[in-house]
Amino acid sequence: MSYDYVILTGAGISAESGIKTFRDADGLWEGHRIEDVATPEAFEANPDLVYDFYNKRRSQLLSDEIKPNAAHMALAELEKGCSDKILIVTQNVDNLHERAGSKNIIHMHGELQSAWCKSCDSREVWTESLDLLTECPRCQKRGVMRPDIVWFGEMPYRMDEIDQAIKKCKTFVSIGTSGNVYPAAGFVRDARISGAHTVELNLDESQQSGAFVDARLGKASELVPSWVTEVLSGI
Ligand code: OAD
Repeated sequence: MSYDYVILTGAGISAESGIKTFRDADGLWEGHRIEDVATPEAFEANPDLVYDFYNKRRSQLLSDEIKPNAAHMALAELEKGCSDKILIVTQNVDNLHERAGSKNIIHMHGELQSAWCKSCDSREVWTESLDLLTECPRCQKRGVMRPDIVWFGEMPYRMDEIDQAIKKCKTFVSIGTSGNVYPAAGFVRDARISGAHTVELNLDESQQSGAFVDARLGKASELVPSWVTEVLSGI
């Protein structure tokens, strides 16, 4: 499958929906260093802390206050306007792209509303809390269900598909990501090597801004709708 646009999104696209980014000014995410919760070692050492961290994030998604913002909506409009030419590759584990109406989405870092059984390797849609007593609905074992999140040191999901899509796309766009975490941080260079046009839409300069041909600074809720209008008016 080839796409005209591959759009990488990060925490910045959901910031105006009320979901905190990872690398705020104090470098902490809700009081925790990301390394203290987002690694397999952290989970092994302190499963309750890690379950609790992701349980809170999961339940936050169910609250009425968290909704897709104008940036998510604009990307869904773009997909409607260009049918199947758009692929969103998101590092976000929220479901705001889906709720805005986007269909072609790869969650390369997993999803909050999914649970993974380490024993039978099944995945389930999950909106409740998880803990060591949670029973796997498939194999009925306890103590084996973990958040379906890619932690540091683990391989992001669907990398072959993502690599192929980046190699073949005409335009690569990065929205609301600081460009600190690989492999996503390296996508812009892969896209350029393959001849794609590259666009960055971010609040501040990212670690990768210099690699983009067109880098625009501002809020996602403003930059993304205006970029989408440009694209749709040129179709
Ligand atoms: P970061 O928190 O590192 O970066 C968020 C970026 O969004 C920053 O560059 C901000 O300037 C920008 N930003 C903030 N508010 C914005 C707004 N309203 N409009 C546009 N941009 C805005 O988040 P990510 O780059 O997504 O991985 O982090 C990448 C990965 O690191 C995450 O997926 C997560 C984390 O560790 C895992 O948990 C595996």
